[in-house]
Amino acid sequence: MITVLVAGATGAVGSALVPHLRSSGFAVIPHVRPKTAERHPLGKDPRALVTELSDTARLDEHMAHSQAVVCTVGTMRRRFAAGDTYETSDYRPVVQLVESARRAPPPRPRHFVLVSAFGARPGGGYLGWKHKAEEVVRASGLPHTILRPSFIDSRGSGSVPSDGIERKPPPAVGPALRLIGKVPRFREMSDDLRPIPVKILCAAIARILHDGAPLGILTGRQIWPLGAMPLAATAARR
Ligand SMILES: NC(=O)c1ccc[n+]([C@@H]2O[C@H](COP(=O)([O-])OP(=O)(O)OC[C@H]3O[C@@H](n4cnc5c(N)ncnc54)[C@H](OP(=O)(O)O)[C@@H]3O)[C@@H](O)[C@H]2O)c1
Repeated sequence: MITVLVAGATGAVGSALVPHLRSSGFAVIPHVRPKTAERHPLGKDPRALVTELSDTARLDEHMAHSQAVVCTVGTMRRRFAAGDTYETSDYRPVVQLVESARRAPPPRPRHFVLVSAFGARPGGGYLGWKHKAEEVVRASGLPHTILRPSFIDSRGSGSVPSDGIERKPPPAVGPALRLIGKVPRFREMSDDLRPIPVKILCAAIARILHDGAPLGILTGRQIWPLGAMPLAATAARR
């Protein structure tokens, strides 16, 4: 059975990804921050790694049991008051996870799957930090896949984000982009931009982990078809 360490497990994507991977036949180690463990169901998960990612000894110990890492860690400007910033949430955790994935004892090399964001590019702000984080993964020497979703739609996914807020794209965006996508030359652009349901994202990540082949950078045009190829419940047991 493939064991996957999921960082950001208490977020909108992570909290849906953990049960999705388990029901697809993966063993999952959900990472949970101590300050969140008390108030989130995954804090009581028997396999949870409840620690800060700066605790290298405990991180490496759990990393040593993992064949793959999925990082869905991040923050938003409205949460800065709680102490997180783009540097401390969208960049630093990626450095900590990459270093641990390279340092921890075999199984190696570990497939590193990073959930980044559409439009990541050099510069400042959210997209600049996402790009810096991608650079760390690209330079790591680890086999890696970087997903760049645009809007994420968590409705109906069963996700339990620690901030309690459903990820709901503006109502007109999805239908408008779907319509634009009916024009063949705008199809790929529409797939890149239209809101991706968390369920599709989770199914795509499960497929990527199962296949094990590093795919580089993926945007919506690749994520949608990957997410439409669900795995059988026991597929990851090999
Ligand atoms: N939501 C969207 O529309 C959207 C669109 C494009 C890309 N993305 C990207 O997709 C990913 C998943 O999004 P999401 O909406 O699921 O994120 P989210 O709900 O905001 O979840 C963020 C997760 O990261 C954890 N985290 C934050 N700072 C951390 C740190 N310093 N160390 C360890 N863990 C930390 C949080 O833990 P706590 O629970 O302890 O706070 C939480 O588990 C993110 O990288 C985001 O930038 C999101």
